Amino acid sequence: MCGIIGIVGLEPVAPRLIDSLKRLEYRGYDSAGVATIEVGRVDRRRASGKLRCLEEVLLAEPLTGQVGIGHTRWATHGAPNLRNAHPQTAGRVTLVHNGIIENFAELKAELIAEGRSFESDTDTEVVAHLIDRGLTHGLTPLNAFRQTLDRLSGAYALAVLIEGENDLVMGARRAMPLVVGHGDGEMFIGSDALAVAPFTNRVSYLEEGDYVAIDHNAARVFDAEGNSVERPVRIVSVSAAMVEKGNYRHFMEKEIHDQPDACQHTLSAYLDPIARRATPPGDFDFNSVDRLQILACGTAFYAGMIGKYVIESLAGLPVDVEVASEFRYRGPALAPRTLAVAISQSGETADTLAALRWCKSKGLKTVAIVNAHESTMAREVDLMWPTHAGQEICVLSTKAFTAQVCALTALAIAAARTRGRIDEVEEQRLVQVLLEAPRLLSEAIASEDVVRSLASMVGRARDVLYLGRGAMFPLAMEGALKLKEVSYIHAEGYAAGEMKHGPIALIDQETPVVVLAPSDSFFDKTMSNLSEVIAREGRVILITDEAGARHAPAEARVILAPACDPLIAPLVFAVPLQLLAYQVGVFKGADVDQPRNLAKSVTVE
Ligand code: G6P
Repeated sequence: MCGIIGIVGLEPVAPRLIDSLKRLEYRGYDSAGVATIEVGRVDRRRASGKLRCLEEVLLAEPLTGQVGIGHTRWATHGAPNLRNAHPQTAGRVTLVHNGIIENFAELKAELIAEGRSFESDTDTEVVAHLIDRGLTHGLTPLNAFRQTLDRLSGAYALAVLIEGENDLVMGARRAMPLVVGHGDGEMFIGSDALAVAPFTNRVSYLEEGDYVAIDHNAARVFDAEGNSVERPVRIVSVSAAMVEKGNYRHFMEKEIHDQPDACQHTLSAYLDPIARRATPPGDFDFNSVDRLQILACGTAFYAGMIGKYVIESLAGLPVDVEVASEFRYRGPALAPRTLAVAISQSGETADTLAALRWCKSKGLKTVAIVNAHESTMAREVDLMWPTHAGQEICVLSTKAFTAQVCALTALAIAAARTRGRIDEVEEQRLVQVLLEAPRLLSEAIASEDVVRSLASMVGRARDVLYLGRGAMFPLAMEGALKLKEVSYIHAEGYAAGEMKHGPIALIDQETPVVVLAPSDSFFDKTMSNLSEVIAREGRVILITDEAGARHAPAEARVILAPACDPLIAPLVFAVPLQLLAYQVGVFKGADVDQPRNLAKSVTVE
């Protein structure tokens, strides 16, 4: 899973390719490369590691062509080294690829038998060879491209340069996104609208199986059968300014601080603050379904689990939540009148998308709670329930997560009212509580200094446990995931009551245990579990509110969160967890915004 860009421009294109790749780095950052064409000759520069390594290479050996392609890689086939970096070249063909060519081994054997030799371990290189073979057989670039696409199984978005063709970049997509950007005398293709945002806001979304040839003036688009087709030009609102870090040291820090705004913005799509009513966008009738099937991955999955707790308890509507990579392959039994709900920041996660499509193929109505409103999921579902977190750049999800929880909580209130579980007065009370979440999120950020003082203790640990009950249980798992991702410390989230069935064996003086305990109906029980930890000399970090802190044993280090209604505790308590992970990451000198091996949007299964 990688990011790609292609530009037919009017000025030297390398700086713009780099600019665009910076916006795509969220898709992977194992290596990067660019190639440009000048007087018919293609030249490429590549570097393993992050984009700044490629920038150094370009400083030493600039490229001056006005037509070019670029790539940022998340390695799938072949180690993340220079040989396997894109662009990949064969004969007259140089190309970049996002996706996986599943039949590459058999194609490679065929090409080797014909006397062709390979210089990388990638699946991508076979594509370059196939196109080049077509060219040597006398085909036009477009025909050679078309014939090659017919031979490929798997997933791809491609951008291709051909030696000798000064005014041409070809592109194609299957299962991976690709957009066309329309400029003035310039044309672009890229993995998403953000990639072309610095150059144009006029974008066409290619459809499954489409391929395209761009030159200075136009894009010629063809469908999978080779028919010439039109894809409408849309004006998109992705602003280049959205990806600035401002005064923060890291995007993660900025995005944690963005959360009051992100939640406010999201809630405004679901709540009427005057009438104090919850009305989901699209006016969905919760009496038309008997069950929700939530599908998601990673952090979005934990948001879904919190959603289950709040929707079932408030609305009495059964909710199943499952990681999409399991759901899509295990042959799940679906009850009739089930609503399939995908939760995804990017709207492009391959497993979530596949699970959603499967539900759709079984005749279920589909909804996506999604932050990228132009994404594949957003465009394929029957109904979109948007989050408005804004562009999230840090690979670790923070503001997108709380925005998802906001949306789910608002939906729970709406479902409860529609299904007659609460009356109008209670609806108004709950809406009022939820409207207070942005303010309380911003108060929760004030725990930053206390959290910083605990970072070294957690940062020196080998294992960390997170415990919670009720909706604090999925939040404990999310807290553990955040810490793992950013600090590479092993961490596990557990239901506090389950600790005695295993994890208690791990507790010793070296193992910090983070206990999430708002002063709610579970408080006393969670405190008993905390005592069990202290009795075994475990080191406890208790995240609680003022009332809870009054019961904290002297051995516990306390992070204070603002007091709040249980409805919004998962939102408010998420903040100290995110801050703790962030500060531990900073303490360890980690690459906070781009931890090793991860990617923001996982478009492979
Ligand atoms: C990756 C990201 C996570 C994210 C997950 C699901 O693993 O690193 O932060 O939660 O994908 O992504 P989605 O875009 O579907 O929410």
